[in-house]
Amino acid sequence: MSEDEERPICEDHVIMGKRLSKRLRTQVKMEVEQLVAKHGIAPKLVTIIVGEDEGSQMYVRMKRKASSDAGILSDNYDLPVTTTQDELLKLLDRLNKDKAVHGILVQLPLPPHIDEKTIISAIAPLKDVDGFSPANIYHLFYGGEELSSATPHGIVTILDNLGMNDLSGKHVVVINRSTIVGKPLIFLLLNRNATVTVCHSRTADLASFTRQADVLITAIGRRKSKEDSFFITADMIKDDAVVIDVATPYGDVDFENVKEKAKCITPVPGGVGPMTITLLLRNVLDAYVAQVTK
Ligand code: GUN
Repeated sequence: MSEDEERPICEDHVIMGKRLSKRLRTQVKMEVEQLVAKHGIAPKLVTIIVGEDEGSQMYVRMKRKASSDAGILSDNYDLPVTTTQDELLKLLDRLNKDKAVHGILVQLPLPPHIDEKTIISAIAPLKDVDGFSPANIYHLFYGGEELSSATPHGIVTILDNLGMNDLSGKHVVVINRSTIVGKPLIFLLLNRNATVTVCHSRTADLASFTRQADVLITAIGRRKSKEDSFFITADMIKDDAVVIDVATPYGDVDFENVKEKAKCITPVPGGVGPMTITLLLRNVLDAYVAQVTK
């Protein structure tokens, strides 16, 4: 074992998301190398951005760089904001049929004239590396985790690697009800026997829930600068809780003070963020395996 592999995932109460990501990405890279040698074709991810959203451009650049580092090919379609829904559907149809393409990712949000549900539903489920398509959500609903959504899957992978892969008797409080994070997360947590409470912007007395949490997962993400006040402060945390802060680019949690009270906490950046991309790579690899070995 290398020195890095021996180091713990949680050190001085801080969850080393980057360290765990590095290990898991090395694993993906090794598997990719072996599979390419065997099948003679490299896994390929196609990303699509519609419009000029700077955040989307940055996230897609990071996803493509990580893919390349893992031996996964990628192409990107940078489409103008004037792209019609029909044009996007035609492109997806072409990519669905292209045997050299194993994963398709349409970066969200889409411009308002394009219906997100229609677009996501048009991605072939086997190539849907975001895990958002109806077939993959249905699979998750029945307890399957293959091709599940990368951010929630990254979060439970952190818990799994902290030795918390069975959450029996644990109360997990999630602050988020989005289709990308909160909703899929519920099912991944239930698979691990957690007792789950979901809070959101209409929840009254948020602290009364967070104080009960053995594991608190928060993805409010409404701080616009480092100077904005925190949503989750030390008085809202139970002693020895595990705290997962999903918010970007500024975390929800008063990291410095909560760190002293919590068993462990993810930093922002360097916590959940790298794990999201890592689980995307895992999904591309799984999608590739399902397609080249069928
Ligand atoms: N926008 C924000 N998060 C995501 C994600 O996980 N996938 C896609 N496709 N778009 C996003």
